[in-house]
Amino acid sequence: MDKILVHGGYPLSGSIKISGSKNSALPILAATLLTKDQCVLRHVPDLSDTNYMVQILTHLGASVERASGTVAVQAEKVESTAPYDVVRRMRASVCVLGPLLARCREATVSLPGGCIIGDRPIDLHLKGFEALGAAIRVENGNVRMFAQKLEGAVINLRGKFGPTVLGTDNVMMAAVLAEGTTVIEGAAAEPEVCDLADFLNKMGAKIEGAGTRRLIIEGVKELHGAEHDIIPDRIEAGTFLVAGAVCGKGVTLNRVEPKHVTAVTDALTEAGFHIATKDHSITVSPNGSSKPLKIATEPYPGFPTDMQAQMCALLSTTEGISVVTENIFPQRYMHLAELKRMGAQVEIEGATATIHGVEKLLGAPVMASDLRASAALVLAGLKAEGVTEISRVYHIDRGYEHLDEKLGALGAHIERVKAD
Ligand code: EPZ
Repeated sequence: MDKILVHGGYPLSGSIKISGSKNSALPILAATLLTKDQCVLRHVPDLSDTNYMVQILTHLGASVERASGTVAVQAEKVESTAPYDVVRRMRASVCVLGPLLARCREATVSLPGGCIIGDRPIDLHLKGFEALGAAIRVENGNVRMFAQKLEGAVINLRGKFGPTVLGTDNVMMAAVLAEGTTVIEGAAAEPEVCDLADFLNKMGAKIEGAGTRRLIIEGVKELHGAEHDIIPDRIEAGTFLVAGAVCGKGVTLNRVEPKHVTAVTDALTEAGFHIATKDHSITVSPNGSSKPLKIATEPYPGFPTDMQAQMCALLSTTEGISVVTENIFPQRYMHLAELKRMGAQVEIEGATATIHGVEKLLGAPVMASDLRASAALVLAGLKAEGVTEISRVYHIDRGYEHLDEKLGALGAHIERVKAD
């Protein structure tokens, strides 16, 4: 397993291009199962997660061709059972359930395991499928669904932690081929959900209300192929903005959608950084000493849970006391134990972390635990004194396209070493 060594103390400057969104590409790749025609997707990031999804599509019978960021998929015939050995590696594989149910009227997919950020139930997904007419059995770790036909319904998908992103995606993909109209109340409004709705409408679906809490989907008989550009990855963008705040002298992101990252740019502005935005670029620069923050993660457009770990890395060396509350995945604090190994001073009480900013962190061997926690450790290493050695970097490769190379291009002294 590879390791990443970060030599701290080298300021970042310059510009990088943001890749296509992982969390948009995954459900949109799954949506290609809804038609027998060819679909062409551009700006699909080269990640292990998107590679897993391509493997699943191939196992399900689709033909897939990739040329750098462009992926052409044609699912002329589709099997209804997703293979366990591939599905088990990635929670997002659950979003083939909706397309398989709509296309084949049956689906068998292995239940996604929990993961390090906390319990990852799919009860809301299944509630939506049942409302559309599916009979569901959960046996030997698999979800099996059958439906004579799918009929539109009014479904409330809000759970105790708020809307479900992939649940909204899944039920929307099942509803597009149902008879009649489906209303999803309490829908997720993330940009990635809107991007999926845009793609489905290009395929001939009739979806209104994307970006609001209420989706109205008028079922159609069949969908046709379409071409689509995946939106920029707002979490990669947020990660690089925080990197620029941690140790930048002026870092510019290109091919970014500023309106998708306002929660992060607002937080960095409140912390005292200078943010300049143009149509599709954002520049973050230091602007005197930074200030501590109170941050609570919320569903979009609130502060994203996927940016919580990265912000903790910045606040670890921000003078004063910062308070972070994680409302989406209350256990999502694995990164704090590792930051404490580097000298961070943090107390955790339930879903709230209180961070006492220290003057500097010290490089240390640390272990990546999940995708965003890994990124947070890299960011902390950029400014730490000495070398930070991060193991299990396969977590990073799941969701960041060449993170070490992009940071290196900005001036970071960062190297990837093959470990046994
Ligand atoms: C998506 O996961 C993202 N993944 C996650 O990003 C992100 O953290 C999450 O949304 C929240 O924004 C992808 O898009 C591939 P949820 P998802 O269903 O859809 C509870 C990353 O780092 N819930 O919106 O699986 C759930 O436990 C990843 O890129 C239920 O209770 O998350 C959580 O507390 C990590 N029942 C809350 O809802 C359900 O049936 C939000 O989860 C489903 C979810």
